[in-house]
Amino acid sequence: MKNRIDILQNKIVQAHLGGGQARIDSQHKKGKLTARERIHFLMDEGSFEEIGMLVTHRSTDFGMEREKYLGDGVVTGYGTINGRLTYVFSQDFTVFGGSLSETHAEKICKIMDMAMKNGAPLIGLNDSGGARIQEGVVSLGGYADIFYKNVQASGVIPQLSAIMGPCAGGAVYSPAITDFILMVENTSYMFVTGPNVVKTVTHEEVSSEELGGATTHATKSGVTHFACANEIEAINYLKKLLSYVPQNCEETPANLPYETGDEKRLSLDTLLPEIASQPYDIRDVIAQITDSDSFFEVHAAYAENIVVGFARLAGRSIGIVANQPAYLAGVLDSNSSTKAARFVRFCDCFNIPLLVLEDVPGFLPGTDQEWNGIITNGAKLLYAFSEATVPRITVITRKAYGGAYDVMNSKHIGADMNYAWPSAEIAVMGAKGAAEIIFKKEITAAENQQEKWLEKEKLYSDIFANPYRAAERGFVDEVIEPSQTRIKLIKAFKMLENKVVNNPRKKHGNIPL
Ligand code: COA
Repeated sequence: MKNRIDILQNKIVQAHLGGGQARIDSQHKKGKLTARERIHFLMDEGSFEEIGMLVTHRSTDFGMEREKYLGDGVVTGYGTINGRLTYVFSQDFTVFGGSLSETHAEKICKIMDMAMKNGAPLIGLNDSGGARIQEGVVSLGGYADIFYKNVQASGVIPQLSAIMGPCAGGAVYSPAITDFILMVENTSYMFVTGPNVVKTVTHEEVSSEELGGATTHATKSGVTHFACANEIEAINYLKKLLSYVPQNCEETPANLPYETGDEKRLSLDTLLPEIASQPYDIRDVIAQITDSDSFFEVHAAYAENIVVGFARLAGRSIGIVANQPAYLAGVLDSNSSTKAARFVRFCDCFNIPLLVLEDVPGFLPGTDQEWNGIITNGAKLLYAFSEATVPRITVITRKAYGGAYDVMNSKHIGADMNYAWPSAEIAVMGAKGAAEIIFKKEITAAENQQEKWLEKEKLYSDIFANPYRAAERGFVDEVIEPSQTRIKLIKAFKMLENKVVNNPRKKHGNIPL
């Protein structure tokens, strides 16, 4: 037996070496951790159990039968993160550049199946040169198997992808289907075709970093939700993200213990500028409403005119969608609509109640927006809110203009509670523009047109630049002092915690993609 145990132990040592010490050193030199080191930092100490450590590839072309590594370039298994069961795969760049073979794909699929059957999150740590070139189409088949399972798992268990090295070609589509992507600055990149192909086809000269690095995807494309300074930060973000979400779609997020105290936040009564056209940072409102230091912003550097993220309210996990008056006056455009819609749908999948903070002057006008499909993109957000069955509360802090009023979780599309601050202005448009249109004849005929315009602007403003017309109709449930917002929300979310609402039976809806 001793002999047999020695054989096993030798294999384990060999598997732990991946592609060998020289390649591990090279990985470190690039400022990257190895697949196993990443798992070590991600999972609770001693909790990781590996599955498929002894798997090897079956390829025989190009002399591949002579080059085999135990595990075949991916470490898979399960363990706990802050005590909660989580499945993980971690690609090992030291073995054929982490490339995806048939067996590598089978290992990933196996733990995806287990994660789905056992209702626990799946984390993918990606670091791969793409399809195993020596294997050809079986490798492509392996990718498709993973994509298919990603889609089956979507909305069933949370799926998180951290990109910690190359992720190119077809490989990008697995992370793209998952719920959140995190990238590491300077050591990771994602693109469908790399700089060389780009140069040949479009004659553009672009570096990998510029084409598909973390900053590019965090700011320009919105492909990644987080750009992390280094791998440890990415791992910490993964853990933090999981802390707000439940294990699967049948569960609700854990409530954290919470000590009640004075919930009045007097600073909110004076936070808004006196002049309605002046900006303020909606994050200051969020900080006052939510439990201290609990706001975790998602997609922070992309479409900054809308702020989305997770927070806690009296220990309860909530998703926040907030117009940002400090950026483009908080206007809705294509990117912000798409960003918010995806976040709303994630929260709804996983039973995370939604809080909407509304200060929106409308949709952004212009050819760029119209030609790039603001109609379709704006409809995504409208659709996402309308179909969401989680508790939904809106607080209108200031402007709620035009179609954007309807879209931003209005009562009409199913919000459960709708509060407004006394500073709310709920109207078809701003008073200035409204006066110009409806009093055009009177203004044109007036001796002093400017004076007339101002008079009519004031008239419109007196009637509509307040929350009371909407409150009279019950479109606003209550007009509240800003300092009362936190306590009102705590009570309302508690009141809604057993909410049951079912959408009509259907195969699936047809969100305007
Ligand atoms: N299939 C098989 N082996 C691969 C591979 C792939 N797709 N990608 C990388 N490798 C191997 C390399 O042959 C090398 O092997 P070695 O350690 O025995 O020398 C090792 O992985 C590391 O690759 P290397 O090119 O030295 O690393 P790098 O950091 O300089 O470059 C890439 C990384 C990903 C940019 C580069 O390897 C690459 O372009 N790979 C091919 C990408 C691709 O076209 N994939 C198929 C389409 S999805």
